[in-house]
Amino acid sequence: MKQKRDLWSSRYGFVVAAAGSAVGLANVWAFPYRAGQHGGAAFVLLYLASVAFICLPFMFAEITLGRYRQRNVIGAIRAIHPPKAWHGLGWLCLVAGVAILSFYSVVAGWALGFIFKTLFRSEAPFSQFVAQAPLVVALFGLFLLLTVLVVYGGVRKGIERWSRWLMPLLVALMVLLTVRGLLLPGALEGLRFYLQPDFSEIDGRAILAAMGQAFFSLSLGIGGILTYGSYLSKEEDIVAASTYVAAFDTLIALLAGLMIFPALFAFGLQPNEGPALVFVVLPQVFEQMPLGHVLGGAFFLLLAIAALTSSISMLEISVAYFVDERGWSRKRAVWALGALALFLGLPSALSTGAVPALTHLSFFGDRSYLELMVFLWFDIFPPLGAILFSLLIGWVWGVDRAAEELSRGSRWLQRPFPGTRWSQVKVWGWFLRYVCPAAVTLVWLNALRH
Ligand code: TRP
Repeated sequence: MKQKRDLWSSRYGFVVAAAGSAVGLANVWAFPYRAGQHGGAAFVLLYLASVAFICLPFMFAEITLGRYRQRNVIGAIRAIHPPKAWHGLGWLCLVAGVAILSFYSVVAGWALGFIFKTLFRSEAPFSQFVAQAPLVVALFGLFLLLTVLVVYGGVRKGIERWSRWLMPLLVALMVLLTVRGLLLPGALEGLRFYLQPDFSEIDGRAILAAMGQAFFSLSLGIGGILTYGSYLSKEEDIVAASTYVAAFDTLIALLAGLMIFPALFAFGLQPNEGPALVFVVLPQVFEQMPLGHVLGGAFFLLLAIAALTSSISMLEISVAYFVDERGWSRKRAVWALGALALFLGLPSALSTGAVPALTHLSFFGDRSYLELMVFLWFDIFPPLGAILFSLLIGWVWGVDRAAEELSRGSRWLQRPFPGTRWSQVKVWGWFLRYVCPAAVTLVWLNALRH
């Protein structure tokens, strides 16, 4: 029997949940470390440009396709009757969701561990902490278990409830940490690194990293936001909702950089530390604060929760498919896919010191397996998915039909001036059909030269 699908329960339900999906480790963990590796302020500008000119127009399209027939990603693609090969894109999304969940949960597991590590004032350095295989794997498994349990609870009860009010608390703590960092002697140097662009630092790899970061941070390109859009009511304004979500997500990423770089320079550390960056810098900031261990514990708890509101959206992509199309129970789908993610994540969990061969992959510069995952699942697959979705929606489905769905419920696209709506739609269609696929392709080609 087909189960009736839930919809988000209130006007803001979607915005809150989509913001919960968007704001996560990409903002707080990945954004500062990747900005640090790729030139600071110049990276930040490239990131902002990617969000505004590539990701946002694409985001409208991905949500629109999800809402059109309110189906999971494969059902959504089928609903517009493209040639059969396009179903492959849906499968790519299912695989991507589970693969991303696998390494994402490893890092989220670190955050879980740091709750207690900070609270109980353990002095062990980060590198020693993440080299303990049993501990890292246990925390990784624990985080996956939490994800499975929340997704099992269903859309409204499980997902929405979590997203609603913990996010502002995280923001408040980040502001507090930023202020503390800015007051440290030597902090100005970090502010300069973060805000004064030096374009000689920019190469093809930096542009690629900024663009991939923007796609991943907004949960775009592999059906994450599409799946959430499928639970969105026809009365909602997709353009407004996406714009809020993108703006909020971007502000949190910018704030995370502001929280890290002044403190980092004040402590005389190097910005190109890699994935360890926030886990190395923040504990030192907590040490400088009254009740720092309590605030630190709270910070990592909230970070883990932010990661959870993202990880559930990764799992939901494939769970929605198996429940909608294959008639699986939710229970069976979450456990089976959770187990798969556990299996796939083991190499990432063991790549931070436990297994040297995974710490330094010989075929990928001198990078770890985890960093390879970041490269593939930030910079390659979400932009690839975005090219394919842009072509599918812009050319196969067609801008006119997509615009019809997009404008439903939109105040912005239906302003009463004659002509307004269609000229706005034209600009959007142009971005979707040409700018988005071409920009991603150019960024990739440019990165190959380096
Ligand atoms: N955007 C999330 C973050 O910033 C990660 C995420 C959640 C995601 N769902 C996704 C990334 C779907 C790609 C696809 O942490």
